[in-house]
Amino acid sequence: MSTPYRAGAFRLSPEDYRALTDAAQANPEAYWQDQGKRLDWIKAPSNAQDTGTGWFSDGTLNASFNCLDRHLKTRADQTALIWQAEEAEHIIRLTYRDLHERVCRLANVLRDHGIRRGDRVAVHLPTVIEGVVSMLACARLGAIHVVLFGGFSPEAIADRLADSGASLVITANVGRRGAKRIPFKTTMDSALSLRPDSLSVKHVLVVSVTDEPVPMQAGRDDMLNPLLASASASCPIETMASTDPLFLLYTSGSTGKPKGIVHGTGGYLTWASYTHELVFDHQAGDVFWCTADIGWITGHTYVVYGPLSNGGTVLLFEGMPSHPKPGRWWDVIQAHKVTTFYTSPTAIRALMREGNDVPREYDLTSLRVLGTVGEPISQEAWSWFDDVIGGGRCAFVDTWWQTESGGILISPVPGAVKEKPASATLPLPGVNPILVDDKGHPLEGATEGVLCIDGSWPGRALTIWNDDALFETTYLRPYPGHYFTGDGARRDEDGYYWITGRVDDVINVSGHRIGSAEIEDALAAEHAIVESAAIGIPHDLKGQGIVVYAVARDPSHPDLEMLAVRAIAAKVGRYAVPEKVYIVPDLPKTRSGKNVRRLMRKIACGETDGLGDLSTLADPEIVEVLIAIVQG
Ligand code: WTA
Repeated sequence: MSTPYRAGAFRLSPEDYRALTDAAQANPEAYWQDQGKRLDWIKAPSNAQDTGTGWFSDGTLNASFNCLDRHLKTRADQTALIWQAEEAEHIIRLTYRDLHERVCRLANVLRDHGIRRGDRVAVHLPTVIEGVVSMLACARLGAIHVVLFGGFSPEAIADRLADSGASLVITANVGRRGAKRIPFKTTMDSALSLRPDSLSVKHVLVVSVTDEPVPMQAGRDDMLNPLLASASASCPIETMASTDPLFLLYTSGSTGKPKGIVHGTGGYLTWASYTHELVFDHQAGDVFWCTADIGWITGHTYVVYGPLSNGGTVLLFEGMPSHPKPGRWWDVIQAHKVTTFYTSPTAIRALMREGNDVPREYDLTSLRVLGTVGEPISQEAWSWFDDVIGGGRCAFVDTWWQTESGGILISPVPGAVKEKPASATLPLPGVNPILVDDKGHPLEGATEGVLCIDGSWPGRALTIWNDDALFETTYLRPYPGHYFTGDGARRDEDGYYWITGRVDDVINVSGHRIGSAEIEDALAAEHAIVESAAIGIPHDLKGQGIVVYAVARDPSHPDLEMLAVRAIAAKVGRYAVPEKVYIVPDLPKTRSGKNVRRLMRKIACGETDGLGDLSTLADPEIVEVLIAIVQG
């Protein structure tokens, strides 16, 4: 294996990096004011740090302007977006001028449909150009986009439409996946019909991904293409306060209810630009490919706002890693001379299984920086990616962050921070992680604890939509004075961080965050099931898999497992379907009635030696019963 740390090949040297870290430490206000200058402000902020009124609080700006208009002077003819269809020969290249024009047209269509600043617009699309265009069109008008993951079930969509109060939806007739068609519009129709009284959606705009017709509801639904064709190609920007919301994005936590994480404009965009440049060593001529769906935060920050605010070239790929044959992703990297490739450990684990001969058929020498996000990566997967894909030539950035952080917080910086396989390494300049014990006391030196962030950073979420109190209690109260991440971590003797996983009841399946409570709530609505517990257990391919223990009302009911799976698929989505459902007579509980998840996890993993002290259980005998059921 190579040494991926090669000072000199990248923008920053270790000395430059140290200078940044020192400057951020010595005078954070001056440091962040300086970083704020990477944006074009309508009114420049007089202060940077959040002293209670938000980051860059008196500044005004427009995010769409920063991603488009300001580049027109210098790079109107540079490619902003390359869209690669499933078919190799089908490629669309949009320059900054083209993208600006498309965004203006869509913004005008939205305005014609009554959308104004502060309104919520839901975006539910496959990987098509219109996804990026929709986000920037909303930003242009000051409307708040709410991108919904394509894999959500109608129930999950309806919940999010209701919570956000979205008044307009942009969806597609279908999405393409090989020969399969994903029914976006009919899924949306089902969502809209579920509980119409709680929804405020007045218009549905439909992108034609194929020419397949879909049912349209007169007065509510419009095909988007004809409207775009007749819309004006120029559209003024709305002046937004730095702390005005740019978007809501739903994520999972310890409660069953999805949380609408609210990101602001000035702080978030500064963070997107800062971290994209620093972590991916952004340079002119780069072709940046982040494989995340725009329905997740990674897609927001590193498909759209980071690279476009920095004037980069972004690749969007409609297809799948190994369709129509293994090596499709490597083919895309070769064809478009991708320099920067950002993906998930789950994808890497799957691709590793195809063997080393597949990638060796492709010329991957354009790659400079490889990145991963979303879950811990094993040393084996790290080394395979570094060696077989990166040829030992690339910087490797294992980036740790979360929906709430807006962008990367802990990651190597190419050329400046020596990597250690499978460690997220060091905080970015200006970020101050701490490890605390159960009581919230900070721990020093090499140790392990709960990961918190001391102070704030520009990308931190503003709040939870409609629930400021929940934001406080979830993130700011557990360890007063610090932001609580929900993760545990180990810090080694070099100060490097090794993320150990969630310390709450969030399960990470293939990088998708799923709350145990979301699954348990879905099952609670199922009459045949009295009570349940969803547990995350290690899974070779997905990182974590879900196991459910369910107590049935009538254990002789024939199809309980199927019922449970159906309920989860219907309420949450297929991505949350468990590996296994165990029908059990009862759950292990403490005498005060609390489920003992630790025990259920051990039993599901087959770790039945040393289950610890069972005397605190209300019914210690249930343990043997569960073991017998799990071991079949
Ligand atoms: C996990 C994705 C280990 C972590 C950007 C975090 C990671 C959650 C890493 C956030 C990493 C993310 N190593 N674990 N490099 N990156 N995680 O909100 O548990 O979808 O809290 O944001 O993913 O997931 P989210």
